[in-house]
Amino acid sequence: MEGFEKVCHINDLEEKVGKRVMVNDVDLALFKLENKVYALNNICPHQHVAVMHDGYVYGGHVSCPVHGWSFNLKDGKINGRKGIDVFEVKIIDDEVYVKAEAKEPNWDF
Ligand code: FES
Repeated sequence: MEGFEKVCHINDLEEKVGKRVMVNDVDLALFKLENKVYALNNICPHQHVAVMHDGYVYGGHVSCPVHGWSFNLKDGKINGRKGIDVFEVKIIDDEVYVKAEAKEPNWDF
């Protein structure tokens, strides 16, 4: 569990509704889908705005509410290509833990 930080209780998350949390100064968007929780960088790599927690979840993806870029919840990819950073999540006794460390953003595609 080294590096993991408790962010919320599983019941604090609504199915397919994003929640914004900070872990080690990393802005994250959490999503619960079918009893799994995914953590993505909250900052959309398109125009670098912190909006992903307001994204629309469908078919295992979340789309940015600004222009609709769509990221796979599991690996953050867009159509199989590099997309957005994703982070490790663990659920223990219904508490949600995320491991995230600040790093320099890489906006190259
Ligand atoms: S800002 Fe997210 S798709 Fe444009």
